[in-house]
Amino acid sequence: MTGFHHIPVLFEETIDALLPRDGGRYIDCTFGGGGHSTAILERSAPRGRLLAIDRDPLAIDLGAARLAPFGGRAILRKGAFSALRETAIEEGFTEVDGILADIGTSSPQLDRAERGFSFQQEGPLDMRMDTTSGETALELLERLSTEELADILYAYGDERRSRPIARSIKESLDKGELETTLDLRRAIVRVLGPKRGRIDPATRSFQAIRIAVNDELGELRKLLDDAPSLLRVGGRIAIISFHSHEDRLVKWAFREDPRLRVLTKKPIVPSEEEVARNPRARPSKLRVAERVEVSE
Ligand SMILES: C[S@@+](CC[C@H](N)C(=O)[O-])C[C@H]1O[C@@H](n2cnc3c(N)ncnc32)[C@H](O)[C@@H]1O
Repeated sequence: MTGFHHIPVLFEETIDALLPRDGGRYIDCTFGGGGHSTAILERSAPRGRLLAIDRDPLAIDLGAARLAPFGGRAILRKGAFSALRETAIEEGFTEVDGILADIGTSSPQLDRAERGFSFQQEGPLDMRMDTTSGETALELLERLSTEELADILYAYGDERRSRPIARSIKESLDKGELETTLDLRRAIVRVLGPKRGRIDPATRSFQAIRIAVNDELGELRKLLDDAPSLLRVGGRIAIISFHSHEDRLVKWAFREDPRLRVLTKKPIVPSEEEVARNPRARPSKLRVAERVEVSE
């Protein structure tokens, strides 16, 4: 696989929520394959501008060509959205009209064995979205104590058998039998038994380890703190999340931030038709809020 094929989720719903207009300025915190970004640029033509960010170097490398037709209207920066404020100020993107974050993993991240996210294909235990920095999954598993690992499996994966799974993973490590994604799956299946229903037994633990490797909740908290101050009054923030922990953070941050008015009492979820077309959209939830005037 050479290109970057990612089907954007909740596509129309997200773009409609951001109300792109000619001359508006927008930030896409999670460029990925650029589906949402290009739609924002098209609908804000001819003068709308976009700052797009992603921490994945592959998304950035392939994104340059995708954005080339938009010339100077689009800027693409590699980085984590926890540094959104600094990046936006450097690029002069303050008082913007819209901010989008679609915070799942991209299809290439999940599908390319060498990225180490998949329990269906053999790959190194990596799982980093930014392959140029930070700890790999293997390094994390080596560093954590059995108790710390169990806590992560429980908190980020809702894995009820977190303790025996953590022990099994650490045993495999001690025996030198944990190098690949399939080794990790084996250590989990040893406790949970083979796949019975639709969901693979390794799903929850892989999700939890991925969230820890990429500090996904820490990244989201920082984004929720910083993004509202970059919006002009009337500007909108739209966040798509993929599991309940993230959705809860977004819901409460929007609700409790005096700078924001919530536009989605209930999250917007994909239609049955979208899920049939793209099963990866199933858990996605979109929440939208608008920046309001606050008296000091
Ligand atoms: C679901 S994909 C986005 C897809 C995109 N909306 C599209 O239309 O193709 C999520 C992307 O967000 C990036 N990402 C996740 N967390 C990030 C973070 N904290 N900072 C920057 N990028 C992040 C991932 O690398 C991935 O490319």
